[in-house]
Amino acid sequence: MAAIAPVAAVPARGLPRRASSRASAVPAGGVRLAPPHPRTSSLRDRGGTRYPSYDDVRRSVRTMRFAAASDAPTPPDAAADPAPTPARLDLEGDELVLVVGGAGRVGARVVRRLASAGARCRVLTRDPSSKAATALRDACPPGTVELARGDVTEPGTNGDAALAAALVGCTHVVACFGAQRISKIGDILGLGAPETNDVTHPAAVNFRGVARLATAAADAGTVRRFVRVTGMSVGYHPADPIAVLLNAVLSMTIKWQLRGERAVRACGVPYTVVRPGNLLDTPRPPGSVVLVGHGDAKVPAGKVSRDDVAEVISVATFAKNCQNATVGVAGAPAPTGGIASQMAWDPARGMHYVAMEHEECVREGVDVAAMLEGVEADVGELRERRHFPFVAAFVAALFGAATLATAGLVAAARALLKL
Ligand SMILES: NC(=O)c1ccc[n+]([C@@H]2O[C@H](COP(=O)([O-])OP(=O)(O)OC[C@H]3O[C@@H](n4cnc5c(N)ncnc54)[C@H](OP(=O)(O)O)[C@@H]3O)[C@@H](O)[C@H]2O)c1
Repeated sequence: MAAIAPVAAVPARGLPRRASSRASAVPAGGVRLAPPHPRTSSLRDRGGTRYPSYDDVRRSVRTMRFAAASDAPTPPDAAADPAPTPARLDLEGDELVLVVGGAGRVGARVVRRLASAGARCRVLTRDPSSKAATALRDACPPGTVELARGDVTEPGTNGDAALAAALVGCTHVVACFGAQRISKIGDILGLGAPETNDVTHPAAVNFRGVARLATAAADAGTVRRFVRVTGMSVGYHPADPIAVLLNAVLSMTIKWQLRGERAVRACGVPYTVVRPGNLLDTPRPPGSVVLVGHGDAKVPAGKVSRDDVAEVISVATFAKNCQNATVGVAGAPAPTGGIASQMAWDPARGMHYVAMEHEECVREGVDVAAMLEGVEADVGELRERRHFPFVAAFVAALFGAATLATAGLVAAARALLKL
C-alpha cells in the first residue's frame, strides 16, 4: 500500500493501470460511487508542499474509474440492490462438505448456502440435539444436511475416532469454529498452564484443534479442499495496535490462529484460508460495499456481514483459483474510491491521517463471486511471528500507567488531608 503524497504526484502513481484492472473486476458487481462527503481540507507542510485531502485523492480516483468504465454496462446501484443473485458454485456433483462449527453463526449460513446450491453437508457440532443444530437441519432441503457429534479438543482415541467418522466420504472441509476466551489475570502470572489445560483456550481450539482436524482430513484420503476461517488480524504485524489489543484481551488469539493456519498449510490437503474483519450479524447495510483481497494484502478492516463472509467461503471452497490461497474480506459503509485514510506519524507533522491507496489486489464491490475471480494462490511461506514481546510491553505500560495514576491519587489525597 503506498501513501498518497503531494497532489501533483497522484496521477503518476500508476493509477491508470489500476483503473483498467479494477474496471475488469468491477462491472458484474461493481458499485456506483457515492457522492463526495465533506472531509478534511488539504494540508501544507513547513516547506510549503501541498498534500491532498482525503477528498482530493478520492475525487481523482473516482474520475479515473468512471472514465475507465465508460464503455462498460452501467453497474447496479449498491444502495438499490445490496444482494445480487447468488453465484453458481463450481460443483462436480459428488460433494459432501464437513462443516465444523456448522451450527454457529457463520457456519449455519454456509450450510444453508451450500445445501440450497445442491451440495450435501455434514455439520460437526458438540451437541447435535441443540436447537441451533436441529433447526438448521430442518430449514434445509430434506436429505441435504446431517448432524454429527464431535469436539476438536476431545482427547485420546475417542476424539480421533469421532473426527475420523465425521470425515468418512467427505470431499471438502470447512472449519469455521473458534475460541473466544477473555484473558485472565492468572494467564499473566502463568498460573494453571491454561494453554495446555483449558479446552476453551485458543491454543486448544484454534491451533491444536485445527491441526488435528487437518491431519484427520489428510488421513481420510477423500478431501479435496480444507477451508479454514480465521480473522483479518492474523495478517497484521504483531506490533499493530489492533493485533496487540486482540492478543492481550483474547488469550493471544492471533498467535494461535496463525499457528493454526500454518498447520493447515502443512497438512498436505489443498487449502483456502478466509480471514474476515469484524463480523456483523445483520445483512450488508444499504449502500455499503465488500472489500476482498488475497495473499499478504492488507484489506482495510471494517465490519462485514456474516452473509457476505458465508458467500466468500461458499464460493471460494470450490473455486479453482482459490486453491492454496488466503482471502481477506471486510466491509466499508460506503464505496472508498480505492482509498483508505490511515493514522501515520512523522517528526514534522506528528500524528495525522494520510490517504492510502488500496493495494493492487484489493477489490471493492457488491458481487463477491466476481471479486473472488481475482484471487491468486499464496506465494511463499507463512512465517511464525513473535507476538508475545509486544503484548508484554503493552501490559507493562498499562501497569506502569496504572501505578503512576494510583501514586498520583494517593499523593493528592495526602495533600488534601493535610489541608
Ligand atoms: N466474531 C468476530 O467478529 C470474528 C471476526 C473474525 C473471525 N471470526 C472467526 O470466525 C469464525 C466463525 O465465527 P462465528 O461468528 O460463526 O462464531 P460462533 O457463532 O461463535 O460459532 C463458532 C462455532 O465454533 C464451534 N466450536 C467451538 N469450539 C469447538 C470445539 N472445541 N469443537 C468443535 N466446534 C467448536 C461451536 O460449535 P458447537 O457449539 O455447535 O459445537 C460454534 O458454533 C470463528 O472461527 C471466529 O474465530 C470471528
